[in-house]
Amino acid sequence: MSEESSFSLIKRRSFLSGLSKASLLMCLPLPALAANDTTAPNEGLTGIQFLSDPYLQNCTEHSVTVMWLTNNDCLSWVELIAPDNTRKKCFTEAHGLVSAGKGLHKIKLLDLLPDTNYRYEVFSKEIEDFHPYHLVYGETIKKGPFSFKTFSAQQDEVRFVVLNDLHDHPDNITEMMAAGCKPSDYDFVVLNGDAFDYVSDEAQILRNVLVPATSIFASEKPFLMVQGNHEVRGKFARQLFSYFDYPKGNSYYAFTQGPVRFIVMDAGEDKDDDHAEYGGLISFNPYREAQALWLEKEIENPAFKTAAFRVVLIHIPVFHSGEGHGSLHCRKLFNPLFNKGKIDLSLSGHTHRYGTYDADEATHNYPIVIGGGPGTAVRKDGRRTLIKVHATKTSLALDMLTDDGKIVGAYRLKK
Ligand SMILES: [Fe+2]
Repeated sequence: MSEESSFSLIKRRSFLSGLSKASLLMCLPLPALAANDTTAPNEGLTGIQFLSDPYLQNCTEHSVTVMWLTNNDCLSWVELIAPDNTRKKCFTEAHGLVSAGKGLHKIKLLDLLPDTNYRYEVFSKEIEDFHPYHLVYGETIKKGPFSFKTFSAQQDEVRFVVLNDLHDHPDNITEMMAAGCKPSDYDFVVLNGDAFDYVSDEAQILRNVLVPATSIFASEKPFLMVQGNHEVRGKFARQLFSYFDYPKGNSYYAFTQGPVRFIVMDAGEDKDDDHAEYGGLISFNPYREAQALWLEKEIENPAFKTAAFRVVLIHIPVFHSGEGHGSLHCRKLFNPLFNKGKIDLSLSGHTHRYGTYDADEATHNYPIVIGGGPGTAVRKDGRRTLIKVHATKTSLALDMLTDDGKIVGAYRLKK
């Protein structure tokens, strides 16, 4: 365990709120948390406290989900500020109940206008006494205002960046984002699988993804968690999904932003379901088959067919990643549909060796770009990459940069 917990780090950050995010990064190292760290998230905290800044998920033309974590029981809400400065208080309600409690807060902002700038503030009001007939509220804490822009299929362009294979190194987010791009370079960020070695508890998710991501972009730009084969390992893997938000509750889905139709696939584990390593807890073969059935329909979807570009995000590339079961099964089920649908580009990670592989009529008739990785137990600089993509209605430009800003892969696709 590091000498400084992520939570004292968060508290210290509140003192530094006057500093820019960039200067904050210069001041605060983000210590890595070992995957098996068992530090309790609430350790040393009293009263109501934010465990994370708010982070944006699942942005669409008409909605976005705001999430954050607190330590104690509370009632939480978002105040949405429209462009005309009118305010709307938004809660999560289900089955007639307003959501209240400790931990994770997930509030979906609905009925938004496309391609529109909004601001928001988040609030958590402590519930000191949570008895059936005697509710006592305590302090209210607030973060913000932050801003975001809704997506739109009508936008002329889209920009996004991709990180992959973070493997419990939070500085892969902070260092690569700070060195490789500025906020105007992206509408959203993709974490393209294996953010963790394996998932043990909430503290690990906070320290190794949510704290570094919100320190740079995630309160104002949404990010996608593409499921890798390491996210599905560990005793907390089954809870991980709830810390993010997905269009239809699945880890595979499609969405449009500007001229691009994005196809997010879940490649699953790299070995077969009955491998001894998984102890009978894995069932990815039927899950991939379900995805293939879904993909068959998606490539006939008018939104897919009419998009200027079609980009696949999949952690394990269907070629150039060995001949393991996961790769082969994805190749067998997905690749014929990628070819048939005439996708323009596939973005992956997994191998930790960056590379670009041109379209090949005999195998994949679309280019495959594989981002590099840091290594697992020990970080290895020079292998980490940031992939930047800018697409308009007529062109798609991709650059893959290593730690030192060197471009090690590029595509310029024309429509
Ligand atoms: Fe992987």
